[in-house]
This record gives sequence, C-alpha cells and structure tokens, in this order.
Amino acid sequence: MKKIIITIDGFSSCGKSTLAKQLANKLNYTFIDSGAMYRAITLYFLWNHIDWENTGEVVTALENINLEFQYNPSAEKSDIYLNDENVEMLIRDMLVSENVSAVATIKEVREFAVAQQQKMGKKKGIVMDGRDIGTTVFPQAALKIFVTADPTVRVERRFKELFETNPNITIEEVKNNLEMRDYIDSNREVSPLRKAEDAVVLDNSNLTREEQLNIALKWAKEKME
Ligand code: CDP
Repeated sequence: MKKIIITIDGFSSCGKSTLAKQLANKLNYTFIDSGAMYRAITLYFLWNHIDWENTGEVVTALENINLEFQYNPSAEKSDIYLNDENVEMLIRDMLVSENVSAVATIKEVREFAVAQQQKMGKKKGIVMDGRDIGTTVFPQAALKIFVTADPTVRVERRFKELFETNPNITIEEVKNNLEMRDYIDSNREVSPLRKAEDAVVLDNSNLTREEQLNIALKWAKEKME
C-alpha cells in the first residue's frame, strides 16, 4: 500500500483532531495538529507582548520561535514544544483561543507555519488537520476530508472538554469563542477556511467515534491501494 497525505479541515471543534489521531494510529501515520502551531505562536506573542499589528515586530518574533512536535506515548499523539518547552496544555487556554484567529490572519505567520507543515509532509504518511490543509498546504493530497457537525453539538463537545480543566468556564463563553473564530477563519484574506473542491464531507453530528473512523478508513484505503 502506498503512503499518502490525508488532510482534515473544518470549523472549530468539529472533532478534526480526534479523527486525525484515530486515523494516524490505525494507519501508523504521523498526526500533525496544525492548529497547535498557530496556538503556540499566539502564546509566544502574548508572553512577549508582541504587537501583532506591527509587521516588523511579528517578523522579528517569528525569527525567535522554534516549534517542534514530539511523540507523547501516553497521549498517543505528539505534543507541541515552543522553544523547547512543552506547551501542549498551555495553548488550550481561553486567552489563546480568544486571540489565535486574529494571529492566524497574519500573512507572515501563515507563511512561517505553512512552510514547516509542507516540510513535515515530504515523506508522506501523515494526517494533518486544520483550516487550509487541503486548499493551501497540500493541494495535491490524495485524500481530503472536510468535517462538519451541528453547531450545538460542537459547543457541547468543546464545553465538556474545557470544563475538565477549567470548571469556571461557561457554555456562553465557549459558544461565543467558536462563533468568533469560525467567522474570522472563514473571512480572512489569506487562505480562508473553505472546503477544497475535491474534498469529501464527513458530518459527524450523529456518529460515534468508531463510526466516523470506519468511514474515513474506508476512504483512506481506497486511495492507498
Ligand atoms: O481545535 P479547534 O478546531 O478549536 O482549533 P485549532 O485547530 O486548535 O485551531 C485554532 C485556530 O488556529 C483556528 O481557529 C484558526 O484561527 C487557526 N488555524 C488556522 O488558521 N489554520 C490552520 N491550518 C489551523 C488553525
């Protein structure tokens, strides 16, 4: 079976990362969470008080950012390291979620992230999830999946996930954040979120994790033959 690139794009909290991780584990592929890169860059900007409306400041800051993924066996996926520090948990913080989509509109930030993502795909055998993976990062990918889910389902899923580490979080806060990010992600100038023409749609509103995996695995195997 040949090694391929699988892209998974879609709105916030559609279960893209869950699906990408499941697929990668089944196929023995590498899973790359491209959103983690934008989140880590945002965390660096926040920590270092970078004015991201100032292009010069952004360019200098990016020169000082080193992002790496390292496999974490207990999570069965890679954690992201920002300048050698594991920030996998810190990047899920609400303050990062509130600012990441604005940071992700910046052309220089996208060029920085996309160049690294394309390098990671050189050897194929990867599943990458994000917003522009099938359209901009790997337009030639063999399998492109566009995941959707009912907005109420998405809010509930993300609320449950965040509540585990932050019992002060409210449903309203989560809903507003998802709506805001989806709006900015879909309307930005550089690589807006949209379904690639040749992507297949997977609506997982009423699917269990196992059901969604089986559908995607079938698609993957067809392309790998
Ligand atoms: O997990 P969730 O779907 O909520 O978001 P994420 O994948 O962690 O991505 C966080 C944010 O990064 C998104 O809302 C986008 O603004 C940005 N992003 C992007 O612009 N392009 C990507 N390929 C991935 C994420």
